[in-house]
Amino acid sequence: MNTKELFNDHVMATYGRFPLTLTEGKGTRVRDDQGREYLDFCMGIAVCSLGHCHPKVVTAIQEQAAKLIHVSNLYFTDNQGLLAEEINQEHVKLPGKLFFSNSGAEANDGLIKSARRYGHLKPQADGKPRFEVLTFKQSFHGRTLGSLAATGQEKIHQGFDPLLTGFRYLPYNDICALEGAVSSETVAILLEPIQGEGGVNVATGEFLEAIQALCKKNDLLLFFDEVQTGFGRCGDAMAWRVNAPGIEPDGISWAKGMGGGVPIGSFWLSDRIVDQEKEVKLSSLMNAGSHGSTYGGNPLVCAASLATLKEIREQDLAGNATYQAQRIRNEIESWGSPVVTEVRGLGLLLGIGLNPTLIPTEDGETCALKIVKELMAKGLLVPPAGPETFRLLPPLNVTNEEIDEALSIIKSVLSNYDTNPS
Ligand SMILES: Cc1ncc(COP(=O)(O)O)c(C=O)c1O
Repeated sequence: MNTKELFNDHVMATYGRFPLTLTEGKGTRVRDDQGREYLDFCMGIAVCSLGHCHPKVVTAIQEQAAKLIHVSNLYFTDNQGLLAEEINQEHVKLPGKLFFSNSGAEANDGLIKSARRYGHLKPQADGKPRFEVLTFKQSFHGRTLGSLAATGQEKIHQGFDPLLTGFRYLPYNDICALEGAVSSETVAILLEPIQGEGGVNVATGEFLEAIQALCKKNDLLLFFDEVQTGFGRCGDAMAWRVNAPGIEPDGISWAKGMGGGVPIGSFWLSDRIVDQEKEVKLSSLMNAGSHGSTYGGNPLVCAASLATLKEIREQDLAGNATYQAQRIRNEIESWGSPVVTEVRGLGLLLGIGLNPTLIPTEDGETCALKIVKELMAKGLLVPPAGPETFRLLPPLNVTNEEIDEALSIIKSVLSNYDTNPS
């Protein structure tokens, strides 16, 4: 049986997969089972921040695998402590505590549970707990029952009702709508600083600052979902800092790029005092017995994550993300192509908006999917983001030559639809 037949017979068909079986990867390149090489600007959807099989990540995993792969969170392990210290001191740079999960959805569930705890500590006037979390249209927070309910996209909810209650979805970057939406039940606001799956939409600095002010005024928690944007991808360790460096959130979730390819996620809560009289820290609301994960933060994944985050910091790969993003923008702008409506995003989370009227499609296929398939046929892997956008998610250590190669493939594909070829 070939791989596709094995999948057909034994794996649930939850993904619309491309007809490609990948077998090996090194740096920016992956190879399929036919021996064909691809330039990978999908990178596991923003997961492999250092490219495939980076030697420092491989060594960290090999050494740790030979020493200790897994023990229960009933015991201390040095890697988990060291990773939490690295994230707190070098990346978040605010006092707080971390909980380690295995994915972004679980990290967001942790934030949602933390909001509920805070709603019990600081209830409504009648003593009932606050519980509502405001999130945004086109957001994506994951596929667990908690994180999918937080997600502001109907297609993600379809067929799974009744959903977990306590979410309302507001228009992104609309301060007035948000101000009018806060109710006595509201306890938190959760948002992506840049919406990734929703089409690469960037929150303005003004919007982020207005949210912080609204949270202070109404005693709401401010949570950032940095699952796709965090750890250098957007040109700063934390994406919110690019447009609103002064903001101090109450909670953050991460996954994807933090592990360099291994399944690890985390949520962080601030050490801010939330009950002056009893000197209660926000992070202490998630106390013994309140949350857990068998695998979360095991020695193996923490070793890989620690190696990844140190490399991102020591090589200033966030700086490379900013530099390469500017080169990409300049080059695409120089084409003057009517097929490209805009380049959105920050750092190396970029969305290339396409003009659907210039790209004819059949059988309900979106123009983004059509272009993604054509790029793949020419040796470049990229993921779509919504119907009219594809994303560029190269590793953070991508070189000038690799960017130039990808851009030349993109130019050759898009110029087929260009009524004004340059
Ligand atoms: C912003 C954001 N949050 C949460 C998730 C869910 O992460 P995971 O697939 O690791 O559960 C994703 C995944 O794409 C994401 O982009």
